[in-house]
Amino acid sequence: RPRVLSGIQPTADSFHLGNYLGAVRNWVAMQETHDAYYCVVDLHAITMGHDPIALRNRTRISAAQLLALGLDPERCTLFVQSHVPEHAQLGWVLSCITGFGEAGRMVQFKDKSAKAADTTTVGLFTYPILQAADILLYQADQVPVGEDQRQHLELTRDLAQRFNTRFGPTFTMPAPYILRDTAKITDLQDPTAKMSKSASSPNGIIELLEEPARSAKKIKSAVTDTGREILYDEENKPGVSNLLTIYAALTMRTIDELLEHYDGKGYGDLKKDLAEVVVEFVKPVQERTRAYLEDPGYLDKVLAIGAEKARSVASVTLSTAYQNIGFLSPA
Ligand code: TYM
Repeated sequence: RPRVLSGIQPTADSFHLGNYLGAVRNWVAMQETHDAYYCVVDLHAITMGHDPIALRNRTRISAAQLLALGLDPERCTLFVQSHVPEHAQLGWVLSCITGFGEAGRMVQFKDKSAKAADTTTVGLFTYPILQAADILLYQADQVPVGEDQRQHLELTRDLAQRFNTRFGPTFTMPAPYILRDTAKITDLQDPTAKMSKSASSPNGIIELLEEPARSAKKIKSAVTDTGREILYDEENKPGVSNLLTIYAALTMRTIDELLEHYDGKGYGDLKKDLAEVVVEFVKPVQERTRAYLEDPGYLDKVLAIGAEKARSVASVTLSTAYQNIGFLSPA
């Protein structure tokens, strides 16, 4: 079985629809076909300033949501990044083969640091290098993510290639797994921007754990486009196209089927139906999340088993990397 690894940050009280459709949905599918490793990346979550109590809660809530969305600990390895110290260890080594200018070209770093120049940390700068360590430690063949992670995956590949060339074969070359249709779910209020935990306005983002009636309202007040016809046209009708994308993904229908169904109908009909689809989707997810959170003993056990499995893979890769780079093995 090919190996897959991906991660998600516990930086909000809830995942949003973009996280699910762009990434987690594919994680769920890939646990059937791949040797799958998924982690809640808490080390990444401290790069922008955070509250310790909130971080701990959000880490648990993230794990609970992932289970509620369909990850099955019998089919995949689910763990918390900080439980596996090899991530930080390999991150250091990789930071020593990354160019300063190379790291400075990461657009996410440029965006985020531009918004908060005086509070930007070194950790935010080295963030993508830690992400490369996450991936390379597991010798992942594929990495299911949204479009916004493409550049980080290119860096990961460059670092793998560089390390292997300089120090001998060590890392598998990972490929991004980005499904075009759902790679960029956009902000409901600003359909040219991605739906984002940090950048979207409250009405632009559907949080999986928010009150479903609130989600319905947001869908109904989503910015649509001029004209009245329901067409899929990302360029000229980004708002309607985004709604169609979400609708198709959540119902497993094709865009063409939806277009046929809504032929002659208006934006209002589409929004009303989609609001219902979203509500029906999130309700059971919320129930299951709540149930997992009510059983912290179970959650902790899943994460402990996950960490142990993850470590058994990560430690082998780390010792090979340490060996190849010339560190003296401890006696
Ligand atoms: P994060 O936590 O921001 O997002 C988790 C996943 O959700 C995807 N995503 C989206 N997909 C489609 N449309 C959107 N609007 C949207 N918003 C977010 C992201 O692309 C991501 O796949 N750096 C990563 C976390 C990470 C990671 C890793 C990922 C750390 N180590 C190793 C893969 C492998 C991040 O910040 O994701």
